[in-house]
Amino acid sequence: MRSVLNRTRVILLTMTTALAAHAAVTKAPFGTTPDGTAVDVYTLKSDAVEAKIMTYGARVVSIKTADRDGKMGEVTLGYSALDGYLADATTYFGAVVGRYGNRIALGTFKIDGHEYRVPINNSGQSLHGGTKGFDKIVWQAHAIAGGVEMTLVSKDGDMGYPGTLTAHVRYSLHHNALRIDYSMSTDKTTVVNLTNHTYFNLAGGGTVLGHEVTLPADHYTPVSKVLIPTGELPSVEGTPFDFRKGTTIGARIHDNNEQLEIAGGYDHNWVLRGHNGEVKTAARVYEPNSGRVLTVTTTEPGVQFYSGNFLDGTKFGKAGEGHEKNGGLCLETQHYPDSPNHPSFPTTLLKPGETRHSMTTFTFSTHAK
Ligand code: BGC
Repeated sequence: MRSVLNRTRVILLTMTTALAAHAAVTKAPFGTTPDGTAVDVYTLKSDAVEAKIMTYGARVVSIKTADRDGKMGEVTLGYSALDGYLADATTYFGAVVGRYGNRIALGTFKIDGHEYRVPINNSGQSLHGGTKGFDKIVWQAHAIAGGVEMTLVSKDGDMGYPGTLTAHVRYSLHHNALRIDYSMSTDKTTVVNLTNHTYFNLAGGGTVLGHEVTLPADHYTPVSKVLIPTGELPSVEGTPFDFRKGTTIGARIHDNNEQLEIAGGYDHNWVLRGHNGEVKTAARVYEPNSGRVLTVTTTEPGVQFYSGNFLDGTKFGKAGEGHEKNGGLCLETQHYPDSPNHPSFPTTLLKPGETRHSMTTFTFSTHAK
């Protein structure tokens, strides 16, 4: 009898897990780009989270989660309509950035002795794939169980990068976790570094300076005046970059520290513990007023923690609010910036015949007072 009951319990549990994995997915039009391409938005809805992902830039347009009183609210920055995204070339709200997320020094790198030049669009450096990166392209999409798969084929020579790169990005919602699976393949050796550039504000408004951040990382990559890693991997010990214990962003962001001054706040890559390819915690963020908690895990070796330093209040969001300085934070799981020019960093080279997989999850929960 007991074994029958146990078996029934196992079957029920399996069914519940299977049901939870299959968030409801719906698709709707989200406007048209100036060249007439239709953009769709997919809504993924589970018992705990509602996420909206659009095909322009494979972007997260909205995530709603409950606060500690169960009240659902928006936790990402963005615009209410496509026009806002089309008019904004520099914030990358919600986007998948590529072919190379973050910077490549002077927009040049070598592969097998051949020098490649990619567009310079940020203080003499190349940022987020150049002037028309993956964030500004309409991806092909279809619904999958509990989510949506987006596909982009970036031709040989696109933005100066070698090789035709095929990228698949799968967003899927599992109860309270939004999972992103990336896979990349090429027909010629290239470099690739894809990440997601969602800005979170777990309070749903105001700045993120009161958000408490934990980064399980003992080292980070300091940068030059143009935000290119120097190549060193110093310890975070005794610096405002030590987030091994949860600390509010505002506690040290205005400290007298050269690295904070260069970036106008936090805009650095932390070296995550554990191997490249292994699933590990990248960050935990707690917002004390709402009680919301965001936990990020990834297979990537690094995370760019960006405290929204370049937001300046000139862009207006979903509810008409100005996106003020420090109004959101990004946790961009990634290979380190400028890796193609740093042989000692984990490699971003991708060769024909290989498929690179990468995974990141954003899990939402709450914490009692
Ligand atoms: C970069 C910032 C940049 C921002 C784009 C981040 O990934 O590290 O320097 O300003 O993206 O808005």
